[in-house]
Amino acid sequence: MKKLENLLKKMSLDQKIGQLLQLNSSLLNREKTNIVTGPQQKLGLTPEMLQCCGSVLNFDCAESMIALQKAHLEQDPLGIPMLFMMDVIHGCRTIFPIPLAMGCTFDTELVKKCVTMSAKEAAASGVHVAFSPMLDLVRDARWGRVMESTGEDPYLNARMGEAFVKGFQSDILDRPEYIPACVKHFAAYGAAEAGRDYNTVDMSEHVLREYYLPAYKAAIDAGALLVMPSFNTIGGTPSVANKHLLRDILRDEWGFDGVVISDYAAIREMRVHGYVETDKEGALKAMEAGCDIEMMSGAYPKHLKELVEEGKVSMEQIDRAVMRVLRLKDKLGLFENPYRYASAITEKVLSTSFESRSLVRKAAAEAAVLLKNDGVLPFSKDVKSVAIVGPFAEEKGIKGFWSCYGKDEDCVSVAEGVRAKLPDADIVTAKGCSHELLDRDTSGVDEAAKAAAGADIAILCIGEYQNHSGEGNSRADISLPYPQRKLAEAVLAANPNTAVLLFTGRPLAIPELGEAAPAILNMWQPGTEGGNAAADLLFGDAAPGGRLAMSFPYMTGQCPVYYNHMNTGRPLKKDFRTAAYCSRYQDCPNDPLYPFGFGLTYTTFEYGEIKLSADSMKPDGKITASVTVTNTGDRDGAEVVQLYLRDNVASLVRPVKELKGYQKIFLRKGESREVSFEITDETLRFWRADGTYGSEPGEFSLALAPSSAAPLTNTFRLD
Ligand code: GLC
Repeated sequence: MKKLENLLKKMSLDQKIGQLLQLNSSLLNREKTNIVTGPQQKLGLTPEMLQCCGSVLNFDCAESMIALQKAHLEQDPLGIPMLFMMDVIHGCRTIFPIPLAMGCTFDTELVKKCVTMSAKEAAASGVHVAFSPMLDLVRDARWGRVMESTGEDPYLNARMGEAFVKGFQSDILDRPEYIPACVKHFAAYGAAEAGRDYNTVDMSEHVLREYYLPAYKAAIDAGALLVMPSFNTIGGTPSVANKHLLRDILRDEWGFDGVVISDYAAIREMRVHGYVETDKEGALKAMEAGCDIEMMSGAYPKHLKELVEEGKVSMEQIDRAVMRVLRLKDKLGLFENPYRYASAITEKVLSTSFESRSLVRKAAAEAAVLLKNDGVLPFSKDVKSVAIVGPFAEEKGIKGFWSCYGKDEDCVSVAEGVRAKLPDADIVTAKGCSHELLDRDTSGVDEAAKAAAGADIAILCIGEYQNHSGEGNSRADISLPYPQRKLAEAVLAANPNTAVLLFTGRPLAIPELGEAAPAILNMWQPGTEGGNAAADLLFGDAAPGGRLAMSFPYMTGQCPVYYNHMNTGRPLKKDFRTAAYCSRYQDCPNDPLYPFGFGLTYTTFEYGEIKLSADSMKPDGKITASVTVTNTGDRDGAEVVQLYLRDNVASLVRPVKELKGYQKIFLRKGESREVSFEITDETLRFWRADGTYGSEPGEFSLALAPSSAAPLTNTFRLD
């Protein structure tokens, strides 16, 4: 630390402020630095500011990182290396399924392995920090960034957040794959009103703490070294200036002393929100809230100096922020080796290596959710003819949004995967229609239906293209586009041995498929090995391992729909068509089409009677809940046994059920196993009416079940 304190003493105020600025690599391209061109000018940046810049985002590869770092060090009198950061969200060059799909694996060890694989690739490309994990709890499938989250449940998101952080920040610091994780977007970005990106968020402190904060906290407790505030306001305050979030909760309550970095131009956007009149005010508010680095806007470089000279920002505040950045650089050993593990050769060797491809192929099978199967799946490998139809039949753009350096051309399409699986079969493909959202062209439907009719089996590949979810890509209607609905109708009528392969970055409203398709296998956006994983699943070399981490609505109008909702004073107790004066729709059930935790596989499981070790417990006691699960099918398979609880009466209304634990078990056909969960006082705690966190005595209901749709069957008391 002495070394850093001595360095700080040597730094001018300009040099200190430079450490608090992050710019796109394109703005730092050295031959341009001396001529302040459009983009730099637009941000009001001078050549001196560019020369002091402390960190970079969005650069191409190891070579460009090395060149940028070298050019920077040659002109930086203090030789302070820059930090290089990238959105390594679900892979770096070899892409694994989108995080929403990874949440469906309910397998944190697998998630960790995939993240560590991506960290190794990222380190070779010169990445020092990953803007990941994104742990925004999501309930509204209209929001495009649900693909980037791990779903609607606080408990599952917390486990996944821990897995992402431990995947990036492996225990051994001086390993290439040690890449500091940046938890985002703090906080509650997933609650954007109407599912429209960047939109207003408003919620009670109770809901914020009960549902939206736990996953961020779990990731920070797991050691995440950076946090990124969200674009949205909460109660009228933009997160980047929200002292309650960034100081009271993050720093004071949670003890976080890492780096807080704004989201892209979020400090400047405070003017657009109408929260400040000038960038100078924005710089003051963000600094006061504790935002250390400004990403891609110029408020800090332009105004912090005068704010210090005017005494509105103290040198202590500046020094504290700068020290956090220097400490991070020092932790990564950048002062000794500013290039760390950047290597064009390693980058090439690791990128889509056989080992990486094998891992992401397995992950895609584990993340896939079998939503329906009337028995057509798995197909026999002895089929003579196969029709692969639909806009995703030969589509290679199935790696998903936010896929870093990943390339579509590296992805395996469904047609490629099936051809590799069945080299002797007669395989025809027909696109049938586009995957464009607003397209109305159905001229290719007949040809596709004919292809399906003429084959032993048909694989109907439909859904949502990768660039129709992700940032800035909300949808007001999440049903299948008209041409795809017509295509599905025609193909399903043409061949009863048809399986639907769904590609999507979000839950879609697909009641018509739920009705008419013999089988629906949701692949999400499966990544580089999507087509091979699909073939493995379709022909039984792998079994679908996923359980939904986010509910599938019947229709858009149900959004937001989620399982851990309140009961209301007038719950719907019978058929929505005949019910009256209760919380219902006249034209749609309340329940989703496919609920949280749901997913089929190629075998069946039977749950025995749930046993409780006692029917009451003291706060210092515990109760063990057990159930015997039997694989009653004719194939081995994995099951996710889920523990749901309800606090039946409390000082604040509690959800009808909450996931409080899960165990993914693998059972051979015919095998039985007892699965147990320990319930302690901690399991029963919540943010109570008086604002404290704790349990309350009373009766609790419980289920050990295959999904959130199961009824609560047992009760116990906390005395
Ligand atoms: C984006 C995203 C954020 C990302 C950042 C840098 O706008 O909101 O998740 O990390 O900019 O790309």
